[in-house]
Amino acid sequence: MCIHVLVLLFLFNLYSSTSAETPLKPGYYSQSCPKAEITVREVMKKAMTADPRNGASVMRLQFHDCFVNGCDGSVLLDDTPTMLGEKNSLPNIGSLRSFEVVDEAKAAVEKICPGVVSCADIIIMAARDAVALSGGPTWDVKLGRKDSLTACQKDSDDGVPSGQSNASFLIDIFKYFNLTVQDLVALSGSHSIGKARCFSVTPRLYNYSDVPGQPDPIFDPKYKQTLEKICPLNGDENVTLGLDATPQSFDNQYFKDLIDIKGFLHSDQTLNTNPVTREYVLLYSKDQQRFFKDFVEGMIRLGDLQSGRPGEIRKNCRVVNAH
Ligand code: HEM
Ligand SMILES: *[C@@H]1O[C@H](CO)[C@@H](O)[C@H](O)[C@H]1NC(C)=O
Ligand SMILES: *[C@@H]1O[C@H](CO)[C@@H](O)[C@H](O)[C@H]1NC(C)=O
Ligand SMILES: *[C@@H]1O[C@H](CO)[C@@H](O)[C@H](O)[C@H]1NC(C)=O
Ligand SMILES: *[C@@H]1O[C@H](CO)[C@@H](O)[C@H](O)[C@H]1NC(C)=O
Repeated sequence: MCIHVLVLLFLFNLYSSTSAETPLKPGYYSQSCPKAEITVREVMKKAMTADPRNGASVMRLQFHDCFVNGCDGSVLLDDTPTMLGEKNSLPNIGSLRSFEVVDEAKAAVEKICPGVVSCADIIIMAARDAVALSGGPTWDVKLGRKDSLTACQKDSDDGVPSGQSNASFLIDIFKYFNLTVQDLVALSGSHSIGKARCFSVTPRLYNYSDVPGQPDPIFDPKYKQTLEKICPLNGDENVTLGLDATPQSFDNQYFKDLIDIKGFLHSDQTLNTNPVTREYVLLYSKDQQRFFKDFVEGMIRLGDLQSGRPGEIRKNCRVVNAH
């Protein structure tokens, strides 16, 4: 259904859009907008000083953008009367946040180089900066993406895995995107920063395997007590808590927590249960530098996902340009 909208847009906009599958490269804007990357970084610094969680929230946008028809800024489009975008999909609604930080970065970049830098690339730069500014590694990002002409709520529902997923399901979905088991475990280490809602853990506490009243049998008992207190049955599911014990530092604490059975999401804890993924959990819990190295590789591969569809440089990340 969503693809029909795309075909229409494609026919109407053919003259003004450049075809996608652009080769990406570091320093793509070094001639056309040499201050693009530093400008985005300054906006991220300010946003994270105001609220450190903005780093995690913006980094997560890269995942939810790239897993839905490639890294094309589709996640940033607001719904229109004729298009249900991705913001209200099940994985995103009431959860994905800090869109205003991307708006701010886009406005700052438009001011110095109007119409040059894509929203899709701004997500990629900002995600890199978020990790570095949280104490994690830094890296050169490949740039040159175009922004999508449409977005699709259903593609987001289908493409972004739920926190109730198990490791074998996650291995398969990552494989579909040409990402390895190493990428899966290293990229899950992004949960070293940021917060999640009770909504994402109550099925594990009170309805495991869809059995009312049953908890996930694997929890560390003390951690489970803490979660039950913060997230009581029939309580406010919007209450948030850290995804690991140090939610403002990008470090390997997340993997240590998984080994102590103090993982928040089912999708996290299951990485320590499945023998194939557990190997990497053990490795990263002992070797933070190796985690950083593999995480960077994973982010680059995640950022390489492209749809091959036509695109543009949006003026406003929330709406397709008027044609
Ligand atoms: C491996 C599969 C993954 C699953 C199943 C998953 C699932 C989730 C869930 C359920 C939440 C909490 C949502 C809420 O309760 O509001 C979350 C938060 C988060 N995810 Fe993931 N995620 C995955 C991979 C990733 C990847 C690859 C990244 C980044 C590259 C990422 C970055 C984040 C961040 C930073 C947060 C916290 C955001 C905030 O504080 O606003 N996740 N994830
Ligand atoms: C939780 O958040 C959702 C989505 O943002 C909202 O519709 C709902 O009213 C909130 N629930 C409570 C109890 O605040
Ligand atoms: C993992 O999840 C998939 C999809 O939900 C399910 O079919 C499968 O049985 C689960 N595997 C295990 C080992 O629980
Ligand atoms: C994975 O790689 C294959 C072979 O290069 C390619 O045909 C396919 O489109 C890729 N899949 C995704 C989701 O990018
Ligand atoms: C538990 O899971 C079942 C099956 O998905 C669902 O019908 C039921 O409403 C859930 N109960 C609670 C308390 O969430």
